[in-house]
Amino acid sequence: MFITFEGPEGAGKSTVLAMVAERLRARGHAVLSTREPGAGDVGKAIREILLHGGDIHPHAELFLFLADRAQHVERIVRPFLSQAHSENRIVLCDRHADSTVVYQGHARGMDIEELRRLNWLATAGLVPDRTYLLDLPVEVGLGRLKDPDRLDREPIEFHRRVREGFRAEADRERERWRVLDATQSPEHLVEEILADLGPHGASLARE
Ligand code: TMP
Repeated sequence: MFITFEGPEGAGKSTVLAMVAERLRARGHAVLSTREPGAGDVGKAIREILLHGGDIHPHAELFLFLADRAQHVERIVRPFLSQAHSENRIVLCDRHADSTVVYQGHARGMDIEELRRLNWLATAGLVPDRTYLLDLPVEVGLGRLKDPDRLDREPIEFHRRVREGFRAEADRERERWRVLDATQSPEHLVEEILADLGPHGASLARE
């Protein structure tokens, strides 16, 4: 099962993801907690360029996110999911393809349908079974950041387009997405997620 967490800056995705991972492990699942960009050695190197490099052309930025994704999906996510007892395996991923559609598409203005095709290429068609949108007002999220990176420093209008973009994407594919109010406590969000997943992730079991 492949579950992704998306949202604007400062939504608390990583905290919630770590807590959900712990609870699912306690239930006996094999859980891989991971993220984009930044998993594995290649991912870490790409993340460093993306978040702390200097001036990066938007197309170069796009291809770096896609390179990170292709490597992550093929070298880390798929191998994990295809090991023995695959029905018991859960990948929790902090950001994935939807972030490209939203940040490079809705917020930067690149062609969204083109981005969906490029994502398809990068993931070889892997689509999350469930995506949680941790939604919150941009001022609240940005106010939570301690050490802003290259993308955090974009103007507030950029971050507003990010928030609206995520909400539009969630609305477009309602079966896959669940929208959560990320102004609530992490503990509350974790309970909502576990309730949505059902006793053994039953609500998402592949047929
Ligand atoms: P993070 O700090 O939440 O891990 O995300 C890294 C930054 O990269 C965040 O500002 C969102 C941005 N991003 C994109 O612009 N496009 C993408 O495809 C991904 C995965 C992240």
